[in-house]
Amino acid sequence: MNDLMVNFFVAGLLGGALVAAQVTPALTPDLGCSPTEPNNCGTPSAPICVDLGSNEDYCGNCTTKCGGSQVCVQGECVCSKNWPNSCTYSNFTGSSITVCHNFTRSEVACGRCLNTCSSNTECILGECKCSSPTATRCDDNTTSPTSTYCVKNITTSDEHCGRCFNTCPTGQSCTNGVCVCPTTKPKQCPWGNTSTCVNTDTSENHCGDCWKRCNYDEKCVAGVCTKSCLGDATELCPVPGLTGVTLCANIKKDAFHCGKCFNVCPRSQICKDGSCQCSRGKTACPVGSPSSIRCVDTRTSDVACGGCGKVCPSNLDCRDSQCKCPRDRPNECPTKTGQVLCFNFKSDKSACGGCFNQCAASQKCRDGKCVN
Ligand SMILES: *[C@@H]1O[C@H](CO)[C@@H](O)[C@H](O)[C@H]1NC(C)=O
Ligand SMILES: *[C@@H]1O[C@H](CO)[C@@H](O)[C@H](O)[C@H]1NC(C)=O
Ligand SMILES: *[C@@H]1O[C@H](CO)[C@@H](O)[C@H](O)[C@H]1NC(C)=O
Ligand SMILES: *[C@@H]1O[C@H](CO)[C@@H](O)[C@H](O)[C@H]1NC(C)=O
Ligand SMILES: *[C@@H]1O[C@H](CO)[C@@H](O)[C@H](O)[C@H]1NC(C)=O
Ligand SMILES: *[C@@H]1O[C@H](CO)[C@@H](O)[C@H](O)[C@H]1NC(C)=O
Repeated sequence: MNDLMVNFFVAGLLGGALVAAQVTPALTPDLGCSPTEPNNCGTPSAPICVDLGSNEDYCGNCTTKCGGSQVCVQGECVCSKNWPNSCTYSNFTGSSITVCHNFTRSEVACGRCLNTCSSNTECILGECKCSSPTATRCDDNTTSPTSTYCVKNITTSDEHCGRCFNTCPTGQSCTNGVCVCPTTKPKQCPWGNTSTCVNTDTSENHCGDCWKRCNYDEKCVAGVCTKSCLGDATELCPVPGLTGVTLCANIKKDAFHCGKCFNVCPRSQICKDGSCQCSRGKTACPVGSPSSIRCVDTRTSDVACGGCGKVCPSNLDCRDSQCKCPRDRPNECPTKTGQVLCFNFKSDKSACGGCFNQCAASQKCRDGKCVN
């Protein structure tokens, strides 16, 4: 700000010294003062001799002090020659203050009271102008007061490209007054009410031209949508019976396309490194009739106990890779036909204390002995 009165104005608004109102001078000389300073604004014993007609601290009467750059002329506070323009401002409480300005260069009263120049303009001969003579002035009339922008070079400004407030979309820059896309994405495609820059050689949304979208299983290669798979699922699998329909699979991991397209892993197997495998600790065994591959734990599987194909007889359980009698009937008795029967020698009447040691019908087996 090059206007000294501004400080005074602010001080005034903050309750500082105010410019005095116009007064009628009372130029009666006081006894005891000199002819040049005839008025006593002190007391008879401690006189303050002044000329009420010209003293800025005692102008017109002893209680009137002129504000800021005002001068006292014939007992009236008036604006000085250098600050000839006076503006009267209200401080919103009904009272008003008078401030002196030079309208030709005041940034808070440029040309007229209250015409404040925005920060990037200067008051030049009573008009808010851009400081640089080559700058373009853009006024935003939607704000009050009007916001003024001084655009250094309107042919290269991204905010005012070619004309005021013509903002280039994100990613574009202003060249010769036109918003242009970068060379890596040279094509401008409409996008809502703005535009976006794309590379039509590689963009799946703008392949070959704006908004020519490729299918999900296609990539844009040299501006042409080309069947391809993205991400981990890199294998393109034509779906049998559906011409032109393909899907993408990860043949390393996909249990439905393990190693190759539509190679489905047997139930309970997983696909690992492109081959169907049982999970850790399990073995792939043909099971059942007709047999199918199942992953079994040969330590506990009744159908593959200790190895594939080793089926336990129906009365035995597989424990620790062996077909064994159940825990509540742990004693094994081989029959003549090679079968194994399971008993509890302690309590079984038909094998009390030993294989086939039959108790009498009226007896019971207790602790391996037939008792009455
Ligand atoms: C307005 O001016 C009056 C009189 O000078 C003063 O008492 C008051 O504090 C001022 N109000 C403000 C908000 O500055
Ligand atoms: C001095 O002048 C001011 C402004 O006109 C006035 O308000 C005030 O009453 C005057 N004081 C005396 C003592 O006459
Ligand atoms: C106002 O300020 C300008 C620029 O500093 C100066 O040339 C001019 O003389 C001033 N006006 C008056 C009336 O003093
Ligand atoms: C603001 O108003 C001025 C004067 O009426 C006009 O020349 C200018 O184009 C307006 N600016 C905008 C952004 O509307
Ligand atoms: C604006 O920028 C262009 C390109 O850099 C330059 O040729 C021109 O001279 C500049 N104009 C101004 C007024 O600086
Ligand atoms: C563009 O669209 C956005 C979102 O719908 C909206 O906020 C904005 O005002 C629009 N701009 C223009 C210049 O129409």
